[in-house]
Amino acid sequence: MHAGVRCMIRRWMSQGCFTQPIPFTAEDVSKIDNASISGYQSKLAKYKELEKAALIGGGPRGIERHVTKNRKVLIRERIKNILDQDSPFLEIGKLAGFDMPYGDLPAAGVVAGIGRIQGIYCMISGNDATVKAGTYYPITVKKSGRVQNISEMNRLPVIYMPDSGGAFLPLQSEIFIYGGRGFYNQAVMSSKGIAQIAMVCGSCTAGGAYNPTMSDEAIIIDRIGKIFLGGPPLVKAATGEIVTDEDLGGAFMHSSVSGCTDYFATDETQGFKMCREIVESLNMRPVPVPNTSSFLQPKADLTWTDLEGKSHLDKVEIYGVLSGLLDGSTFKEFKAFYGPGLITGSGYIEGNMVGIIANSGQILEAEALKAAHFIDMCNRRATPLIFLQNSDATSALANDSYDLKPRGSMSAAVATACVPKISVTLTGCFHEDYLLMCGPSYNPNLNFAWPGAQFSSFLMDNAGLPEKRDDEEFDAFYAAFNVLTDAIITPEITRMVLGESLRIVKQQSLNLPVTNLRYPVFRM
Ligand code: COA
Repeated sequence: MHAGVRCMIRRWMSQGCFTQPIPFTAEDVSKIDNASISGYQSKLAKYKELEKAALIGGGPRGIERHVTKNRKVLIRERIKNILDQDSPFLEIGKLAGFDMPYGDLPAAGVVAGIGRIQGIYCMISGNDATVKAGTYYPITVKKSGRVQNISEMNRLPVIYMPDSGGAFLPLQSEIFIYGGRGFYNQAVMSSKGIAQIAMVCGSCTAGGAYNPTMSDEAIIIDRIGKIFLGGPPLVKAATGEIVTDEDLGGAFMHSSVSGCTDYFATDETQGFKMCREIVESLNMRPVPVPNTSSFLQPKADLTWTDLEGKSHLDKVEIYGVLSGLLDGSTFKEFKAFYGPGLITGSGYIEGNMVGIIANSGQILEAEALKAAHFIDMCNRRATPLIFLQNSDATSALANDSYDLKPRGSMSAAVATACVPKISVTLTGCFHEDYLLMCGPSYNPNLNFAWPGAQFSSFLMDNAGLPEKRDDEEFDAFYAAFNVLTDAIITPEITRMVLGESLRIVKQQSLNLPVTNLRYPVFRM
C-alpha cells in the first residue's frame, strides 16, 4: 500500500469514520503494489477455460444427439426463452462437477440460476441432457440440494425443467440414499408456500417421475416429455406387456388420463409461454429494479487485479474494497476503534442498506462481541448482512481458548441471524473463521468467492470427527467444483452481483405468506 494513501486513510479514521466518504479513488488503488498480478491473471485464465468447458456441456456428440436426433432445445436456450428479455441470470454452481473421482461432469449435469420471469425472481433448474442423458451423479444431487436450499431460504418460486435418465446407474448405491431428498425438499417448500412449477421437456424416469407430480403445476411438451417409473423395456421384463412410451407416459396420456400434468404444450415454444403465464398467475409483487441514476456510484474503480492476488488484505485495503462496493464510497463504521480485527458498519449497495462484517485481523474477544452486537442490531432493523471473508491462515489458528466463549456468541449470532446473509470470500477463510464468517455450513443465502480465494478446513477422520489440528487447504476452484461456493466472481463484478443478490433476497419481504397453510399442494 502506498504510504501516502495509508496516511490519508489514517487521517480519515481519526475523524471518527462516521458516515464519511472513504478517501479512496481509482488512482489510489492503482498505487498498491502489483507484484501478484500474474498470479491473478493465471487464475482468471483458468476460470475462463473452465467456464468455457462448463458451457459446452456434453460436447458435440451430446449436443448433436439432443438437437438433431431428439429435436430438443438446449438447456441454456430453454432458460433464455423463459426469462424476461432484459433479465440477468445469476448462475449457481456453473463450475460444479469438474475433477470428480468419476471424471468431469460439466455444471454437474444440471444448469441452475436465478433470473426474472414477468419481473419476479425465480430459481430455474434444468437437467442438461447432453451430459450423459442428464442423469444424476452424486455431485448432481449435491448441487440440486443447494439450489433448493437457496430457493427455500429466499422463498424463490422454482421452475424445474426435468430432462433426465434418472440415477446414473453405475453409481446408484451412492445416490439412492440422498437422491430422494429433492422430493422431500419439494414437499417442505410447498408447505411453506413456495411455488414450484415443472416443465417436462424430456424424460422423468424412475424417482424423477415424482418431480412434476409434486410440483404445484406441471406443463408437459408433446412428443419429448415422458413421465414413468419404468420405461417400456422394464414393463416388458416385469409383466411381458408390450407398450409404447407414449401410451405408458407420454404428454397426451398424462394430460388426459393420469392427470399428472396440467398443461399440454404442442412444442417447447408454447411451453415457455405457458411457464411465463403461470409465473404471472402467482400474484407476486416484483422488486423494483432501480436505474443507475437513483443511487450514487462508488468513487473507486473496481479493476483491482492487484488486490485480488494478495493472500490477505490489511485494514486499509479492506477500506479500499468497501470504497469500491458501497454507494458513494460512504461507510458508517460501528465501533471503529474497538476490536480492530473486524470491521463492522453500514452503507448502501445499489440503493439497498447493508450491514458489513469484514475480517481485518484476528477475531478475538472484542471482535466477536462487537460482531454479535452488530448482528443483533441488523436483525432488529431488517438489514441484510454481507460477510467479506478475509481471514489470515496463521492468525486464525492463533486464537487461544480465552476467546472461545465470545467466539461462541458470535457463532450463535451468525447462525441464527434472521436477516439474509451473503458471503464473499475475498482472499481466504480459514479454520473456525469458516463458521464465524458465515461459510457454507452457516447457510448463507448466497455465497461467492474471488478466483484467488483459499480455504482450509479441519480434516475429518472416518467417523466424521475432526483430527488433531491438521488442516487441508483448498482453493476457490475446488470449492466451486464441490458446491462449497455458489459462484466464483471477479472483483470487477462484485458490486453488481451483490446489487442483484440484494434485490433477490429482498423479494420475500414484499411477498409474505398470505395463508396459514402448513401443508403442501396435494395434486388431486
Ligand atoms: N445410467 C447410466 N447411464 C445412462 C443412463 C443411466 N440411467 N441413462 C442414459 N445413460 C447414458 C447412455 O448409456 C449413453 O451413454 P454414452 O453417451 O456413453 O453412449 C448416454 O447416457 C445417452 O443415453 P442415450 O440412451 O443414448 O440417450 P437418448 O437421448 O437416446 O435417451 C433416455 C435418453 C433417458 C430416454 C435413455 O437414455 C434411457 O431410457 N435411459 C435409462 C433410463 C432409466 O431406466 N433410468 C433408471 C434410473 S433409476
